[in-house]
Amino acid sequence: MQKKIFVDSHCHLNDEKFAADLDDVIARAVDAGVTRIINFGSTLDDSARVVEMTAQYEACYAGVGVHPEEVFDMTSADLDRLAAMTKSPKVVAIGEIGLDYYWEKDADRRRLQQKIFIEQLDLARQLNLPVCIHEREAHGDAMNILRREGRGLRGVMHCYSGSLEMARELWKLGWLIGVDGPLTFKNAAKLPEIVRAAPSDMILIETDAPYMAPTPYRGKRNEPSYVVMIAEKLSEFRAEPLEMIASSTTANAERLYFKAMRNA
Ligand code: NI
Repeated sequence: MQKKIFVDSHCHLNDEKFAADLDDVIARAVDAGVTRIINFGSTLDDSARVVEMTAQYEACYAGVGVHPEEVFDMTSADLDRLAAMTKSPKVVAIGEIGLDYYWEKDADRRRLQQKIFIEQLDLARQLNLPVCIHEREAHGDAMNILRREGRGLRGVMHCYSGSLEMARELWKLGWLIGVDGPLTFKNAAKLPEIVRAAPSDMILIETDAPYMAPTPYRGKRNEPSYVVMIAEKLSEFRAEPLEMIASSTTANAERLYFKAMRNA
């Protein structure tokens, strides 16, 4: 039988929690069939580090961007610096970018998040790259921005936490949803219903490691090999064989992150 291949489509292996054993973490992932891992930057410097990792590790790909919790008033030189990073062959996306109203309560800072989100969406459009969106408790504003500013863009709403209605609208707009650890929680709320309703070409699996560890590791450090557990949960909820989940989610990641991933 052919070995099942998975993509961990959203991860942060540059986090200091992996500093001591990164080689082992990546080896465990590859052993489990997770042969490609996309690490996303949160700041400019952090983005530069995930790009460096693509040269150090065959399995690693990268997305570059400024995360909503890290936003600052970016100049055109900052945007140029991000754009320059995307010239690197294994940089496949702009991300993670978006809105986070859970951590940010200040109205001015939220407006700054919106401005920087839109500027990075524009950058992605200019560069013809897909987008990975972080959105927490900002469903309304995020959807408004995507409706207004999302033309010509494709991407994924990572670690999806919205409603089924919002997911349906995203799918209609051509956007995917990313599912991770919370799908395995006992209190997974709406997620099982959402993944059952999803068209098979609209879901990505991801760990968001070191965060969001699935059951039975909830609360501990997450790692890319655990993305197989997300695939197993999807298989259970969608009543599809694991092989089918592996091949469809891998094809979805290859299609979205087309630069460098297509024939890897
Ligand atoms: Ni993340």
